[in-house]
This record gives sequence, structure tokens and C-alpha cells, in this order.
Amino acid sequence: MRLSRYFLPVLKESPRDATIVSHQYMLRAGMIKQSSAGIYSWLPLGFKVLKRIEQIVHEEQERAGHIAIQMPTIQSADLWRESGRYEAYGDEMLRIKDRNGNDLLFTPTAEELVTDIFRSHVASYKSLPMTLYQIQWKFRDERRPRFGVMRGREFYMKDGYTFDLTKEDAMHAYNRHLVSYLRTYERMGLQAIPMRAASGPIGGDDTHEFLVLADTGESEVFYDAAVTELSFGNREIDYDDVAQCADVMEEFTTKYARTDETHDPALFDAIPADRQRTARGIEVGQIFYFGTKYSDAMGATVQGPDGKPTAVHMGSHGIGVSRLLGAIIEASHDDKGIIWPEGVTPFHVGIVNLKQGDADADAACQSLYDAVAALGLEALYDDRDERAGSKFGTMDMIGLPWRITVGPRGLKNGVVELTSRKTGESEEMPPEQAIAKIGEIYRAQGLGRGKSS
Ligand SMILES: Nc1ncnc2c1ncn2[C@@H]1O[C@H](COP(=O)(O)OP(=O)(O)OP(=O)(O)O)[C@@H](O)[C@H]1O
Ligand SMILES: [Mg+2]
Repeated sequence: MRLSRYFLPVLKESPRDATIVSHQYMLRAGMIKQSSAGIYSWLPLGFKVLKRIEQIVHEEQERAGHIAIQMPTIQSADLWRESGRYEAYGDEMLRIKDRNGNDLLFTPTAEELVTDIFRSHVASYKSLPMTLYQIQWKFRDERRPRFGVMRGREFYMKDGYTFDLTKEDAMHAYNRHLVSYLRTYERMGLQAIPMRAASGPIGGDDTHEFLVLADTGESEVFYDAAVTELSFGNREIDYDDVAQCADVMEEFTTKYARTDETHDPALFDAIPADRQRTARGIEVGQIFYFGTKYSDAMGATVQGPDGKPTAVHMGSHGIGVSRLLGAIIEASHDDKGIIWPEGVTPFHVGIVNLKQGDADADAACQSLYDAVAALGLEALYDDRDERAGSKFGTMDMIGLPWRITVGPRGLKNGVVELTSRKTGESEEMPPEQAIAKIGEIYRAQGLGRGKSS
């Protein structure tokens, strides 16, 4: 993409109502525009990151054996009356009437609808286990929408629903989700710590929230510093292996880590004092096992091995896809702007031409641009006739992890400059070497084309 042809409405100043850095930077980098309280348009740069995050979520869900569907945003109130939640959900639910006076609502979550799909089509335990998930817009009429996409009213969420014959099977589904979430967040460059949580209006027995530590987080959290040393990394996992998933679950949830809702001071005090931590965190996901709550209420049964109808055990498992943009920025930025982790960056490389119109510089930029594309990666080429300082300022604000700077003086010596957004370090090298290095960095992340092509 050439910046001269892109739509990147960068702002010089932070709008006054943006109080936290991720909200400020998303506005300043031209990623989102508020349309009304807690409701946003996604401008090209923000939309690109949203899609990168969505793609990682899809890939990891599919890797875990989960099946993608898409349910409507507008639902009939009747199903929600069956579960008893139409009234119980309260003011957070946006209720709508159609021209015939039917009660509709904008989905805040989708347990009822997915349970209806399941009961209509699945009759035997032989179809289990089954996990159906979607990534879909949700609406919750939050009392205090704030912090940009972190607490919106309309927001994008991955919601997955598990159906199993027994509680034991459902707990494997729970563990499988925990493992897949660890992988998902790590691919986004995030550490998200599973913490024991209390169940909300969905109702549940076993539940963990995934929290990204950040001073601006809305949750107060208490944990053993040892949990921050855990990382899932590149280990092989067989998602059908019950013991293997249970081991990961144990490894990541045995050390003390709780939100204020479940905090137990006695257990906390038992941790060695030098490892006790109190901090704030951003909830980026949650897993729930809630048994037969909805299957009982809505008659979602399968024929068991004994031929008798049995209510299925269910769980629901969410990831805050749009909130993740805010969480990633809170975790990765400096005073100049965003620093995107390579896994989610909107463009993989920024190319800055220091002398637009200089034949050599223009040609070198164009050939770098083509070489990045040949790697299967995307470059944003700042080809505007602007001062260098302004070009650097824009690149720093939008946070691309790597920048190649091209100028007539360097080209005379056969070099361009490769700069890391994170460390600020620059290195001069021939253009081919810069491209080789970019290819290597992203290949290590599983991005771009492999060496062979
Ligand atoms: N208003 C919102 N704006 C953006 N993301 C949200 C919002 N509410 C929930 N999410 C995201 O969706 C995920 C799954 O939804 P869930 O039902 O668990 O939310 P929740 O526990 O009600 O969230 P919260 O406690 O933050 O209100 C959450 O972990 C969070 O990341
Ligand atoms: Mg939650």
C-alpha cells in the first residue's frame, strides 16, 4: 500500500475524552472513529488489525477441532424466554420490536440460539463431542462505555459453545479451550494469565478469565509472580489427548492467580512474600463450564449409550476480539506511539522514502516494496512528499515493527537503513539483506512465504 493512496487520518492531538493510552493511540493512528457512545467505525488501519486478530483466533480454534458457524446478530426474544433470560438479562440487553410487534434483541451472547441449533439437529451421543463457535458482533448496553474499544457497547467477540455427554468430557472441552487460548494470545505477543473467576449472568461452576496485566485494567488481580514465568511456547499438543490438556491446565492454573471477585487472602498470604503481587488486568477472554443449565431449560438432549435421553453438558468460551486491540496497545507502546507485535501488525514493514521524486530513491523503494510482496508480506510505503521527521512520526505512531529508510545518500553507498520500532536500533545494509532479514523475522512467526518460494 502506498500511503499517498491510503486512508490514514492521523491526528496530531489526543481527543480530550480519551483517557487511556490505547484509546488515544487508536484515535491518533486513525484506526477507529466513534459513531456514538461505545460504538465505532473501524477505519482501514484498525480494520486490518482487527482482521489479523480474528484470523489468529480462527486458526487456533480450528486447530483445536472447533467448528465455525455464524449466527445472526438479531434474535427472537422467544428463545430467551425459554431459558428465562429475556427478563433476567436486564438493561444491558438491547430490545427491539419489528413492524409486526415481535420482540427481537441484538445478541449480547448466544447460548440460547446455539442450543436451539443443537437440539434441532443433534440426536445421538455419537455426534459428541462438538464445539460450535462464531466470531460475531455483540451488543451490550453497558452503563459506562469507555476506554474506546476496551469497553464498547458494540464489540466483536469469539463465542464458542461446547456440547458433551458427561461432565468429564465437558471438562476436557474446557481444558482444550484453555490450551488453545494460551496459544492464541501468545501468537498476538501477549501474556494472558488464566485466573479463577466468579460466574456472571451466564451462570457457571468452573470458570477462568484470561487477564493481560496493565495499569489501566478494570479488574484488580492477585497472583503469585511465578505465573508470569509460564509460557506455552511452541510445544506440540494433541487436542484429543485428555491427559495432555489436563496437564497444561494444571500447570497454568495451580499457582495462585485470582481476580478480586474470588480473591482469598488466606491462600494469598501463604505465597512467599516476595512473590505476592497485586496489580490490574484487562479481561481478554473467559471459559465457563455450566453443566446442563441451558440444555435442561431448553430440552437439548441426546440419546445416550443406554438409549435414554440425556441433557448435554455445556460450556461457553469467549475471546474479546475487538478489546484485544486495546489490550495489545496497553501492553506494547511507548511515548511515540504503538509498537505492534509482529503477529498482528497491520503492515509488516514500513518503507520511508527520504527524497520523494529522486529517481534512484523512488526506484529503490519500489523494488523493496515488490520484494516485500514477493515474501508474501505487506509493506506500507510512505511515498508522500513530506519532511522526513513527519514521515518518521507517522510510522512511529502507527507502530509497524520494522521500517526501511531509503535516501539518496545511503544509496550512493549501496545501503538502506533497517530500524526496529521496539528497540529503536538502526542498521545500515544493502537492500537485499534488509529484505532477507525481514523474511527471516516473519518466517519465525509462521508468516510470509517459506524459504522455498
Ligand atoms: N463491553 C465490552 N467491550 C469489549 N469487549 C468486551 C465487552 N464485554 C465483554 N468483552 C469481551 O468479551 C469476552 C467474553 O465476554 P464475557 O461475557 O465473558 O464478558 P464479561 O465477563 O461480561 O466482561 P466484563 O466483565 O469485562 O464486562 C470478555 O472476556 C471480554 O474480553
Ligand atoms: Mg467475562
